[in-house]
Amino acid sequence: MSKQVQSRRLTVPEIAQRKGGEKLVCLTAYTTPMAALLDEHVDLLLVGDSVGMVLHGLPTTVGVTLEMMILHGQAVMRGASHALVVVDLPFGSYERSPQQAHESAVRLMRETGCQAVKVEAGEGIAETIAFLTARGIPVVGHVGLRPQAAHVEGGFKAKGRTAAERERVLAEAHAADQAGAFALVVEGVASDLADEITRAVRAPTIGIGASPGCDGQILVTDDMLGLFDWTPKFVRRYGKLRQVISDAVASYASDVRSGQFPGEAELYRLRAR
Ligand code: KIV
Repeated sequence: MSKQVQSRRLTVPEIAQRKGGEKLVCLTAYTTPMAALLDEHVDLLLVGDSVGMVLHGLPTTVGVTLEMMILHGQAVMRGASHALVVVDLPFGSYERSPQQAHESAVRLMRETGCQAVKVEAGEGIAETIAFLTARGIPVVGHVGLRPQAAHVEGGFKAKGRTAAERERVLAEAHAADQAGAFALVVEGVASDLADEITRAVRAPTIGIGASPGCDGQILVTDDMLGLFDWTPKFVRRYGKLRQVISDAVASYASDVRSGQFPGEAELYRLRAR
């Protein structure tokens, strides 16, 4: 009898307990095949609203809708069976009131089966995080560079270079932590500020463009696989998929044009009866 491999998803408490312990390995995923590939290697898969820029060609994450997040969340849940899956609440789906956030988060969790949601934790969002966690919705907060605020901020700018900015980011992290966020993404901040946040909060911090001192790290998968020409300074490219794909497609195009594809091995032949 073949041995069945029992796979069990990591849980929210298991991720929360990793504070100061084994580093959390996290990546973004938006599709079933990619989630299936990443799943065995990571602790947490984030269906980030970066999907809007990475897969849909949007200029910022502001155009991403709840319906898009639900579709991609469902796809990732179909591919992953080990990692904890977190789905972003997109711009406009949670900021108006805790009640609006609750309705959106319930839809995300019900319709995708994901285990938690993430919110960009700017001023005023702590109340929403507390409202959601009190109603059984695990929340990841996101502080520092908040891509959904790109228009207010005038672009994607690293945070923590001035005293006032440091204080603001630290206060946001404290507020999200105290409101019950079980993990905090810390994006695009000076490394010593990321370290200070990591020491100050109870929740594990997950850095992106932050510090090796964070409790874990996350990258946009397509960035680290080398699918883009340009990537931010903090991305390390672990692959050169752009080149691999371009070479493969050039070979295909050349074979089609020269008549070498399809060849004998790729043809169906009627069998003689
Ligand atoms: O949307 C996203 O992919 C994110 C990560 C960059 C943390 O929020």
